Parts: sequence; structure tokens; C-alpha cells
Amino acid sequence: MAEVGKDILKAKEFLKAGKLVAIPTETVYGLAANALEASSVAAIFEAKKRPFFDPLIIHVDSFNSAKSYVNDFPQPLELLAKSFWPGPLTLLLPKKQIIPDLVTSGLQNVAVRVPDHELTLQLLEQLDFPLAAPSANPFGYISPTTPEHVNKQLGNQVSYILDGGNCEVGLESTIVGMENGKICVYRLGGLPLNEIEEVVGKVELKINSSDDPKTPGQLKSHYAPTKPLYIGDTEKLLEKYQNKKIGILAFGKTPTSYQNSFLINLSESGNLNEAAANLFSSLRKLDEADVEVIVCSYVPNNGLGLAINDRLKRASVSQ
Ligand code: TXA
Ligand code: MG
Repeated sequence: MAEVGKDILKAKEFLKAGKLVAIPTETVYGLAANALEASSVAAIFEAKKRPFFDPLIIHVDSFNSAKSYVNDFPQPLELLAKSFWPGPLTLLLPKKQIIPDLVTSGLQNVAVRVPDHELTLQLLEQLDFPLAAPSANPFGYISPTTPEHVNKQLGNQVSYILDGGNCEVGLESTIVGMENGKICVYRLGGLPLNEIEEVVGKVELKINSSDDPKTPGQLKSHYAPTKPLYIGDTEKLLEKYQNKKIGILAFGKTPTSYQNSFLINLSESGNLNEAAANLFSSLRKLDEADVEVIVCSYVPNNGLGLAINDRLKRASVSQ
């Protein structure tokens, strides 16, 4: 198990020595290392058992700092950065040579974001390098939203866990880039699509699932519990799996009949922001509970609901 605490100086010393430190962000916890040191970055891939074709996001403390690691900042992306940083938005920008190819899996663009978490922002301000940080979970498993989640799975691989409490947004950042002059969204996430479109107009969605390793981060099966998760009409799924021990992931008002099963409600009042914040920890609780299958329905497909449904789909076996 790793030491958990709020000591920024300690985190800084470990990072300067090339070690891994788990950092809090508003989205999920990150597994951080010095992004400019290929050997430190390699340790991230090793700890997560992450394939090298899946590139990493670098975290910086400000727009100006982001600018110093990229060759160009197209105007629409600058507008987004200025509107939403610090926040759950990652931008794909042409990288400067100082960023090791290992960070970008050999791609020309580097993914950059300014996370909205006070402790991590303070830490970044004190470092003279950006932090490469994927979500701090073993590859393919559910992302961590508490220090305990990190410690349980990667406690032996990190030197320190910076304790920033529960992640407020609970979903990974929305990833945005440009192709042929068009603004594209590559991953739905904590910044809702409609808020992006209010600033830069209509965007293109490029979030299709794929088994093709050439399209990193869009893997069909991701964010997945070890128990099978089925999505559909919850009532019908309860009937279909009545011979098994069922766990229900619910949203909003539920029929009293559900109370015969192990049930976790993402938001009893039907609030999508609350549901997003609870999603990953609820999936973990269901995964650890005495159930054989997990069933759920999609949540309403608006606002953060789009990203929640995307994660549910990738976590499920019924695609
Ligand atoms: O909210 C978040 O984004 C969290 C916190 C820790 O910041 N990080 C996170 O990282 O979710 P990760 O590694 O789990 O997901 C990063 C994804 C990759 O899977 C890949 O799809 C995309 O970002 N990505 C990174 N660099 C890219 C690049 N150069 N081109 C295209 N996609 C890239
Ligand atoms: Mg991840």
C-alpha cells in the first residue's frame, strides 16, 4: 500500500526523482510522472499494464504553460482553452520535440489539459515539467475517483497518493482536436458537448468504438468491471437473469420490486451531474458485492448523460 497524504512537497520530491505519484483531479485520479523523462513515462505504462499504442495526456498549470509545449494553438482550440481551463477538457495540439514520443505513442499531437483541482494545480506550479498522467487504474478497468480506489489496485506501484478527496466530476475529460479545419470530439467526457458547441459551434463526433489499436482510447471494451454488465430495459433484464444474484445500477425513481436485489442508485433525484460523480465508485461497489451480474438502463442522453452512456456501453458485455 502507498502512503496517502496532502503533502505537496513530498509529491514534488518523488516526481523530481522520477517516481510515480497518484494525483487528484476533478475528473478521476491520475497516475503521474515527469512527462519530459521517457524512463519515468515508461514506468506509467508498466504499472498500468497499458499498451504503448495508447498515448498519455500531459497536465500543466495554465494556458501559457500549455503553449510552451506545443508548436501551434489553433484559434478555436484557444477559445475552448480560455473558456474551460482549468477543467475537464483535453486538447490535441502539435507537440514540440521536447515531449518524448513515448507520451504520444509516436503521434504528432500531444494531449494537454489544465486540471481543475487546487492541490494538483499547486503541485504543477511548483514543478518545471508537465505531468503525464493516465487514469490511475489497471488498463481496461474502472477509473478511480477516490484515493482508496488507487491504493487498492496500484498501491504497490506508486510512491505516494496525493489525497484530494472524491473527484467532483467523476468522468474523464472530454477530448477535442482539429482535423482539416474541423473541430472534432474524440472522447465524450466531463465537459458536456452542448457547452463546447455554445462556444465554437457544431463539432464532429469521432468517438466510434473500435478494436483497432490504431485508434487509441476508443477501445470498445474499457472502463469495465469484472462482473458482466448488461444494459437494456432493467425490468426485462431482471426477469432474464432471475436465476442469478443480480446487482442493479439504477437512476432516478425505481419500482419497489427492485428492492429485492442489491441496488445502487446513481442519483435518486435524477440529476445527471450527481450520477456522473457516482458512476465509477458505484460500478466498483457492484463489482465487489455478492452479485453475479450487473444490470442497468441507459440514463437520459443529454448533458453529461452522453458521456455516462458512453462509459456504460464500453463497460458492458451487451454491445
Ligand atoms: O480526465 C482525464 O482525462 C484523466 C485525468 C487523469 O486527467 N486522464 C485520462 O487519461 O483519462 P487516460 O490515459 O485514461 O485517457 C487518455 C486518452 C487516451 O486513451 C487516448 O485516447 C487519448 O487520451 N489521447 C492521449 N493522447 C492522444 C493523442 N496524442 N492523440 C489522440 N488521442 C490521445
Ligand atoms: Mg483511462
